[in-house]
Amino acid sequence: MITESTRFQTVTTRERVVEYRIPEDEDMTQDGITSQVATSEIPGGPILAEPTADPCVLVIFGITGDLAKRKLIPALYNLMVGGSLPRRFAVMGLGRTEMSTPELRERLREQTGKFSRQPLDSEIWNRFAAHLEYVCGSFDEPATYEELRARLSQVDATVGTAGNRIYYLSTPAATFPVILENLHANDLLPRGHGHQTQPWAQVIIEKPFGRDLDSARELNRMVRRYIAEDQTYRIDHYLGKETVQNILVFRFGNSIFEPFWNRKYIDYVEITAAETIGLQGRGRFYDQTGVIRDVVQNHLLQVLALCAVEPPVSFTANDIRDQKVQVLKSLRPITSMEIADQVVTGQYRGYCDEPGVAKDSRTPTYVAMKVLIDNWRWQGVPFYLRAGKNLGGRCTEVAIHFQPIPLSLFPQGNTCQILERNILTLRIQPEEGISLRFVAKVPGEHLSVGNVSMNMNYSSAFGKPLSEAYERLLLDCMRGDATLFERRDGVEQAWQFVTPILDALEADTKSPVNYYAPGSAGPAEADQLLARDGRHWSPLS
Ligand code: BG6
Repeated sequence: MITESTRFQTVTTRERVVEYRIPEDEDMTQDGITSQVATSEIPGGPILAEPTADPCVLVIFGITGDLAKRKLIPALYNLMVGGSLPRRFAVMGLGRTEMSTPELRERLREQTGKFSRQPLDSEIWNRFAAHLEYVCGSFDEPATYEELRARLSQVDATVGTAGNRIYYLSTPAATFPVILENLHANDLLPRGHGHQTQPWAQVIIEKPFGRDLDSARELNRMVRRYIAEDQTYRIDHYLGKETVQNILVFRFGNSIFEPFWNRKYIDYVEITAAETIGLQGRGRFYDQTGVIRDVVQNHLLQVLALCAVEPPVSFTANDIRDQKVQVLKSLRPITSMEIADQVVTGQYRGYCDEPGVAKDSRTPTYVAMKVLIDNWRWQGVPFYLRAGKNLGGRCTEVAIHFQPIPLSLFPQGNTCQILERNILTLRIQPEEGISLRFVAKVPGEHLSVGNVSMNMNYSSAFGKPLSEAYERLLLDCMRGDATLFERRDGVEQAWQFVTPILDALEADTKSPVNYYAPGSAGPAEADQLLARDGRHWSPLS
């Protein structure tokens, strides 16, 4: 928010003058606060203003769980290292395990050392941990919330966190109602206190947002009883990945791609999320979830939506999310009659022997599907989605296959002509970057043509490692920027598309399961899905 007390500083780049704001209460020289300007590594490149985050307390329900130790605390620590956390910031963790605050700090120090993308620096960790507190208690006990309230007031007084709160529900969805009810009853979560009010209170909830359309609607209704939409931050960590954010920047920051970004020039699109890992101890959860709920309903459909959206009128949260919802609304439903032609599921061999998995489970660990978008831009362009665990390569990417040339002009005969189509690949992970495949003359006296790739690699192009998705998302929530979070209607729209597919697949208990060998590219049946259209999957590399 720009107030009268906002000071401005002017920075001149080679091309233009940029003004950015400095809130009066931020001491730019203090530890833990860096300049708000993210300067470009490229001389003459743009200088962008990044709003700083407000003072606040992040309350993590489920601090002793896996997500907190692997992702949340390492993300906060890395934000501290990068100087992006507000100076007046604290973490209050809640859990059922009996332990003291020093014990929690010690435990998290060890785990952060293991899971942080940057090595642990004792001095920085100690500064971070000094404002990390533990409240032990059951989530359905009023006494837990009384203690929480008292401790939060104490932190406000000592750290200066101004009464601003983020509640992170890193717990099973079944606990959300009781947590929200108790926060509400203890005046810890006033409805309507979004980022525009002082103090503000926001809630981050983790997927899965339901397990089908009805349960997602029910969850949304329940959440809405306690908080307004602008207080609700539904996290899909894919949206925090730099390379996923870059899809929109790439499309709308360059003039040369947008004219080709439609059915006239694009033949088909492949979106792949292939993992080499298996269940990693999550057998029970996964067996009730399966690949479609786990990654397609959320991550893959979000990536698809970003690739397919119309230009938003502005880069604000609601304008972008409005456009994404339009795409999700345009997905052509896949009826039970069409499932066999458009959806292939598979299960890796040995899945049923995993701990927590039913011996006769039919839960898919792999899916490939052909999705069509009924709008002017994409009519007739298939989007082929595939995702799976225990595959032969780790690769998350979008491959845009352009139309073939209308006619080859190169003389036949003793020349070698392998004219592949142009393919633009947005590599989301690993080897984050972008590559464009095109045809070029092979040096020599004959007119031979071959295929080459032009590559951009993120870390070498910008000379710095990419941050983790949770870093960006936590920071955005502190800034009140919901652009990279899912909105209620988007979540429901995605379920609307996926639920009939799940219903039809789950009703079919007779068809044989398509098994695939761990370390392979998935079941052979998935190849037939594309072969029927005269196409084949890109290799998992
Ligand atoms: C999670 C899924 O949402 O995403 C996991 O629950 C999956 O099963 C993970 O492994 C993949 O995320 P990433 O960031 O490792 O690609």
